[in-house]
Amino acid sequence: MNAKNTDFGTFAQDVMLGLNSTPKTLPSKYFYDAKGDKLFQQIMALPEYYLTRKEYEVLEGQHEQILAEVLALNTPFNLVELGAGDGMKTKILLRYLTDKKADFTYYPVDFSGSVLEELEESLASEFPALKVNPIQDTYRDSLKRQVWEDGKPNLILFLGANLGNFGVKEAKNIIDHLRVGTKKGDQVLLGFDLKKNPQTILDAYHDSEGVTREFNMNLLDRINRELDADFDRDSFTHWPTYDPVSGECRSYLVSQKPQVVTIGALNQSFEFEAYESIFTEISKKYSLSEIEHLAYLGGFSVKANFLDPEVYFADVLWEKK
Ligand SMILES: C[S@@+](CC[C@H](N)C(=O)[O-])C[C@H]1O[C@@H](n2cnc3c(N)ncnc32)[C@H](O)[C@@H]1O
Repeated sequence: MNAKNTDFGTFAQDVMLGLNSTPKTLPSKYFYDAKGDKLFQQIMALPEYYLTRKEYEVLEGQHEQILAEVLALNTPFNLVELGAGDGMKTKILLRYLTDKKADFTYYPVDFSGSVLEELEESLASEFPALKVNPIQDTYRDSLKRQVWEDGKPNLILFLGANLGNFGVKEAKNIIDHLRVGTKKGDQVLLGFDLKKNPQTILDAYHDSEGVTREFNMNLLDRINRELDADFDRDSFTHWPTYDPVSGECRSYLVSQKPQVVTIGALNQSFEFEAYESIFTEISKKYSLSEIEHLAYLGGFSVKANFLDPEVYFADVLWEKK
């Protein structure tokens, strides 16, 4: 696996910065350690978590149209995936490309080393002939470093509503990185969760089995495990909210009482007032016009929007102008 050379010791720094901010916050990328990866796989199978099913439906039903242009190039290309996760939906595309005998190398990029190892293993058994080059890195740094092969056309996948895990300003910044990290003619396929009935959205982040709660709480467990902290998870409540105007679904951990938490690795204690919250995740829902505006900002033209019949989810194909 191609891991970034700089160290990953920023967890402690990010926790320190986040818990010293007002309001307190923790970056959502730290959800994904070995336990968080497993919990996310359980979330994807939940009846309330429509996102995975809907995107699967889009890719399963329309992969031929989605991949028509890259196949028509009839030349070797790079298939880069930002935040690949377990690659469950991507395998629909990989299978079709492999069946069509396309000449490409798959570069799954993910911050989580454990999920990349799992993906590499499953690809080796399901697609033994596939050229795979996993990269452990962040979205932004991988786009800056561009470790995929120079000179070949790129199809960059950014599936699963990953861009939705950023607020508007940060999403624009990621789109800027995509602009810089691509060349004329490169294609980008992005997954967006669309605005819909607010209750449907909220239920996806507050499931009846409590798996999304467990996923959120894993951040506290992870700080306890890795940074020698004493968070009492039972004194925090998982609290997702959805604002239909901004389209932002935000998850919080709310302290149920005044308390002090000590983080040994930081040599610091943090005071919580009763009902003070830690903001842990944003999942922004988009309208098609907002998505089109992002394409315009990044210097991409919209080739096609692929939607499921209920219009819950969009995979949009852009081309660099
Ligand atoms: C919501 S999951 C989606 C996974 C997959 N794309 C899918 O649709 O099922 C997000 C994935 O992106 C990774 N990730 C989150 N933030 C990241 C970042 N800033 N840079 C790189 N990977 C990140 C996580 O480790 C996780 O595997």
